[in-house]
Amino acid sequence: MSKENMIFHGDNVATMKDWPDACVDLVVTSPPYDNLRTYGGHTWDFDGVARELTRLLKPGGVIVWVVADATVKGSETLTSMRQAIHFKDVCGLNAHDTMIYQRPAVPFDPKCNRYWQCWEYMFVFSKGKPLCNYIKEPCKGAGKPKKGDYGQRRYDGTNRTDRHQEDRTIQETKVRENVWKYTAGDRVDGHPAQFPSLLAADHILSWSNEGDTVLDPFAGSGTTLLAAKQLNRHYVGIEINEEYISIINKRLHAR
Ligand SMILES: C[S@@+](CC[C@H](N)C(=O)[O-])C[C@H]1O[C@@H](n2cnc3c(N)ncnc32)[C@H](O)[C@@H]1O
Repeated sequence: MSKENMIFHGDNVATMKDWPDACVDLVVTSPPYDNLRTYGGHTWDFDGVARELTRLLKPGGVIVWVVADATVKGSETLTSMRQAIHFKDVCGLNAHDTMIYQRPAVPFDPKCNRYWQCWEYMFVFSKGKPLCNYIKEPCKGAGKPKKGDYGQRRYDGTNRTDRHQEDRTIQETKVRENVWKYTAGDRVDGHPAQFPSLLAADHILSWSNEGDTVLDPFAGSGTTLLAAKQLNRHYVGIEINEEYISIINKRLHAR
């Protein structure tokens, strides 16, 4: 794709509409959440973005859609769920995984009668079967014998102890679970809502290889683009707010 390592200033749908089909390996992005923040008062077209991202994705490509909902008059909007269903049912993408980004809790006023909110969705959609470079983690008690019943249940609920019986020792590493915990975003001056650069990096490592093209159509302060650059991927970003373009350029070209 000739647009590699470029930042575009403008509306994402208008920018993407002239790009060729199947030119992007991975999208890691986070759109504005309902009307929680204004970002300069710009609007965006969910249907158009979903359609263009689906068109631009290569077979096997992945979209990571990080999103949460506003609470209006005591009720969550559930916008994020409607968006997820649209990607699956209207765009025809595979709902590969509904992952959770666990972040520091936002305290509610006790009068709201709510538990403190401490997570956001990370919907992972794919065009067919995705590539996955699993991130592994060390196991607690590695090398020690496994205790207790170990096995999957049959459909009738009885234990399937025939599986995995040959290996009764705790492995050195295991595939990471799909709730990922990070401290707050990068707190870049001048942009009100970043996700953590480690979150972007972990998704880029998981769903792409070096040399692949990673797009963020809501580039914000450029967190995805910076992680892609650092991990030797090509990056492409679109951002409508001109003030944020200079933040992105500063972050990408800082020495
Ligand atoms: C949640 S922020 C993204 C933050 C980003 N993940 C980061 O870590 O910095 C959403 C961004 O989308 C941008 N945006 C809103 N409407 C847009 C549009 N129509 N086209 C392109 N960007 C848009 C906003 O200006 C805002 O910076």
